[in-house]
Amino acid sequence: MGAIVSTARDPQAAPSSKAGCSACYRRLWKRSSSIRRALHHGHLADAAHELGYNWTVMGKVVSGDRRGREIGFPTLNIVLDPGAEPFRGIYAVKVRDTAIRGGVHWPGAGYFGDRPTFGTGGTFVEVYLIGFSGDLYDRTLLIEFVDLIRPDRRFASIAELTEQMRKDCLEVTSRLERHGDESGLDASPLGRLQRAGQL
Ligand SMILES: Cc1cc2nc3c(=O)[nH]c(=O)nc-3n(C[C@H](O)[C@H](O)[C@H](O)COP(=O)(O)O)c2cc1C
Repeated sequence: MGAIVSTARDPQAAPSSKAGCSACYRRLWKRSSSIRRALHHGHLADAAHELGYNWTVMGKVVSGDRRGREIGFPTLNIVLDPGAEPFRGIYAVKVRDTAIRGGVHWPGAGYFGDRPTFGTGGTFVEVYLIGFSGDLYDRTLLIEFVDLIRPDRRFASIAELTEQMRKDCLEVTSRLERHGDESGLDASPLGRLQRAGQL
């Protein structure tokens, strides 16, 4: 998966022969760090403001433990590159298939966390596509993180978790409906391109 965030290295490692370049490099590194920090704390709007578009990851769909099917929420499991460490929680996301051109996207409830209810270990990126039925296994998807819904947490039973997931999906739908007008990203060319499904 490629996180669409610049990945500048430590400014100490920057070439020092050209003072101008080194200053640019430091600025880029500082900006990249502040975006990462915002994502790590779940401040998606701050990250989007700096980027000019919603933070987006790209990754391939792989098979999971298939527990989601049993509990009524089949999710797409996405391989995540090391390095991207967003806040552990549930997000309103828009999902696009890189093989489909144009503005087609599906609304989704995104998850980034370690499934504390099951104690399986490991960190996962998953998406439940709302109102979608189809097979996207092995496809490469773009996942646009639009809004944070709530933090990840441990539930005492699977019934409690699934009840909460149902509420999450309702909240996702209403946040995605509201978001278009409130984000302010239309002021940025990249924000406009993303909204048109061309980014
Ligand atoms: C909208 C949503 C909310 C979730 N919330 C939690 C949560 O709060 N705690 C948790 O342990 N797992 C949470 N999960 C992850 C589920 O535990 C996971 O989807 C389930 O174990 C099925 O995974 P599998 O189909 O890959 O086996 C959430 C997943 C989704 C899609």
